[in-house]
Amino acid sequence: MYVCLCHAISDKKIAKLTVEHGITDIRGIRQVTPLGSQCGKCIRTAKEVIEETVTAA
Ligand code: FES
Repeated sequence: MYVCLCHAISDKKIAKLTVEHGITDIRGIRQVTPLGSQCGKCIRTAKEVIEETVTAA
C-alpha cells in the first residue's frame, strides 16, 4: 500500500530502506525520499511502518 500518496512511496519501499540501509527513523527516510514534504499526512503511518519493520527484524 502507499504510505505517502503525494509522492507514491509504499510501505514496502520504507521497509526496504529500513532493512537494506539501516534507516530507523523518519529523518533518515526523508533524507533519501521526499516523504512528508507535501501534505505531511503520511508521517505517522511511515513511523509505524519503520517501527514494525525494526521490531520484526
Ligand atoms: Fe506524504 Fe502527502 S501523503 S506528503
